[in-house]
Amino acid sequence: MSKPKLKVPGLKRPEHHTPIRRAEAQRFHRYWRWWAAAGLALSLAAWTAALAPTARAQGEQGQAPAGEHAGATAQGDPTEHMTAAEIDSGKLNFQGSCGECHGVDASGGVGPNLHGVVQEHGTQFVFNAIRYGIPGTGMAAVSSLNDKRAWQVVGYLKTLSAAPGSMTVNGDPAKGKELYASNGCSMCHEIDGKGGAVGPELTGIGSMRSPKYLEEVLVDPAKNPPADPAVPDRRMWTGYVLTKVVTKNGKTLVGSRVNEDTFTITLRDMAGNYHTFNKSDLQSVDKELGKSFMPSFSRLSEAQRNDLVAYLMSLKGAQ
Ligand code: HEC
Ligand code: HEC
Repeated sequence: MSKPKLKVPGLKRPEHHTPIRRAEAQRFHRYWRWWAAAGLALSLAAWTAALAPTARAQGEQGQAPAGEHAGATAQGDPTEHMTAAEIDSGKLNFQGSCGECHGVDASGGVGPNLHGVVQEHGTQFVFNAIRYGIPGTGMAAVSSLNDKRAWQVVGYLKTLSAAPGSMTVNGDPAKGKELYASNGCSMCHEIDGKGGAVGPELTGIGSMRSPKYLEEVLVDPAKNPPADPAVPDRRMWTGYVLTKVVTKNGKTLVGSRVNEDTFTITLRDMAGNYHTFNKSDLQSVDKELGKSFMPSFSRLSEAQRNDLVAYLMSLKGAQ
């Protein structure tokens, strides 16, 4: 049965799925961080100038209100002198606002393990990730926390230095690489520019997810589908959730819902082709929760899955 291939007027991308390349996203991220830093420096300069008369009036006692300010100040960063109570409150807010993706103990989930992230990237980076998100990734800005609370979360993360036990990977990455090749993973996934585009690109997956999450994906791919960075207007889990439409003349199509407006819905099928339907032509539109284009690899042994996870965890992005 050949399905009609329809043009998609609303989509700016070419008909073939071209996911935002990770390297590009990272490059963008670097520029963005540079501008953010430059912007911060400027506003800091302006702010210091505005503050100068007061500081002079106060003589040598003039202190910047470090804890209240959005950026790290000339006096240091807001996490420097946090009380235990503030760090506790940071922990609670972390569990409430971040735990769902990064694990309640920050050991990772669909988002990466965050133990050691402050030591590696600094407090301002983590604050910016909360405030502005990381463009082109599943990490969106967390608007539910004000600046003060966000800094307390950073203060809490700063206390987590060593990776917890759940981070250990027992498999052999070299064997995992062979299993990746022999199980047809590259039909649907791209690594370093090679492979298909039905599933997400895996070039940097090792720095984006936890081993536990990857193990779960191999056994039950539909359980926790990741966001699709190529479809930026939709946060969270909807990116790869499958949708089934049935037309009024009885045609059925299953695909991921890449676009929808009042009158039309667009699905991407398993071969990567886009199909747009007028809603008035459809008899039903249903989410296929619990289903995925990715087959379960529960038939592999646990040792083999560990090898695959070890290989996936070794993929830290295009250099
Ligand atoms: C909806 C899921 C989700 C939520 C909620 C979320 N994150 Fe993330 N976060 C992610 C994902 C996914 C990434 C990986 C992005 C990438 O690089 O592709 C990430 C990345 C990060 C990074 C960068 C890690 C690194 O090593 O580069 C930091 C820091 C971070 N998140 C902190 C937080 C904090 C703090 C919160 C809560 C205030 C939070 N995130 C809430 C999903 C989430
Ligand atoms: C027929 C296509 C297909 C095949 C074959 C396939 N996958 Fe997937 N994969 C997907 C899709 C689609 C997703 C998106 C998530 C979902 O649907 O659950 C996915 C998700 C993933 C994820 C999660 C990615 C993320 O960003 O969190 C990983 C990891 C993964 N696959 C690894 C593999 C490995 C390893 C193999 C081979 C052993 C494999 N896949 C085979 C289609 C496929």
